[in-house]
Amino acid sequence: MTELYVGLMSGTSLDAIDCVIVDFSEGATVLAAESFPIPDIRRRGILDLCQSGNNEIEKMGRLDRQLGIDFASAVETTLNRHKINHHDVVAIGSHGQTIRHRPSVDDELGFTLQIGDPNTIAYLTGIDTIADFRRKDIAAGGQGAPLVPAFHHAMFAEHCKNGALLNIGGMANLSLLASPILGFDTGPGNVLIDHYCRKHFQISFDDGGRLAASGTVDQDLLARMMQHPFLALPAPKSCGRENFDQHWVEQILQQHCRAVSPTDLIATLTEFTAKSICLGLETSGRRVDQIIVCGGGAFNQYLCQRIQANSGIEIVSSHHYGISPQWMEAIAFAWFAMRTLKQLHSNAPSVTGAAKELVLGAIYSAK
Ligand SMILES: Nc1ncnc2c1ncn2[C@@H]1O[C@H](COP(=O)(O)OP(=O)(O)OP(=O)(O)O)[C@@H](O)[C@H]1O
Ligand SMILES: [Mg+2]
Repeated sequence: MTELYVGLMSGTSLDAIDCVIVDFSEGATVLAAESFPIPDIRRRGILDLCQSGNNEIEKMGRLDRQLGIDFASAVETTLNRHKINHHDVVAIGSHGQTIRHRPSVDDELGFTLQIGDPNTIAYLTGIDTIADFRRKDIAAGGQGAPLVPAFHHAMFAEHCKNGALLNIGGMANLSLLASPILGFDTGPGNVLIDHYCRKHFQISFDDGGRLAASGTVDQDLLARMMQHPFLALPAPKSCGRENFDQHWVEQILQQHCRAVSPTDLIATLTEFTAKSICLGLETSGRRVDQIIVCGGGAFNQYLCQRIQANSGIEIVSSHHYGISPQWMEAIAFAWFAMRTLKQLHSNAPSVTGAAKELVLGAIYSAK
């Protein structure tokens, strides 16, 4: 008997909606995986809502529905292409699109917000949909992020006891697999590199890290970037575009007296990304013997080389363990959906700082 779940992921990079169909009847077998590029108009709409602005409720309401339709269509297309009947799918786990992530700081009440209406997904696909995975962890005093370490632990801890999973998405996060599991966001992943690739080279990312490899790191600029207060914070911690975006880079560039060429800027941002990841590893106090890398940043070979050079730890792609780096996050959300339906906890309090283990997410019935 199969046990099929759909995982839907659309992360900070705004590159694509990733959709996977996973069979959890024995381990985790990926039966289908498809990626649907996010059109520019939708990207701009999402980016607009990532910052405070006018008429937010009206804009959010519409985008919430629209993304629900986009997510449903991603599921339908994936099912059709792979000839899988929707009746055979138990449920969809949808992360949603984060438009604000502000975990508690001091006494301020924290919150996080993901949109992409799960009612619309459930109605259009006819499949029960589970979403809103982060907010109960926040309600229990946690960061609501990163959530994937619990999944990484379930998948990899047995094979790589003293290893670390490094997910390089828009932001980067580490899972340190030894018990008790630790995990936290380390700072930016691809988000800053992508922004300046678009701005200066009209390309959406630095393929293989070739631009970065051809530039020279501006050491003074790099040192200024390394002063970002997030990097010195102890775990639990999580970050987003609220902490690292082009406005922050522009401020630093203004303080910096020399002009920096676009290629050198990409080289410096890449080195900053590598160094901030390595600083996170170092300050965790854990001895790690291997870094298993996943997320789109795993395809930036130059970035991976720089992480290996800075940390002195061997880096391997999650491919080596049978999971493509591209689909790891989407598979995680299929797994979270499975855990919710089985009423099993899926947060790791040692990672998020939540008061206890909790069953995450809300179920939106298709009936
Ligand atoms: N061949 C490649 N070379 C360099 N970078 C790549 C390559 N392929 C993908 N990427 C990078 O990976 C990014 C997408 O990564 P991913 O989908 O894991 O991030 P995400 O959607 O932000 O997810 P999350 O933040 O939730 O982890 C792209 O925006 C790009 O920067
Ligand atoms: Mg993505």
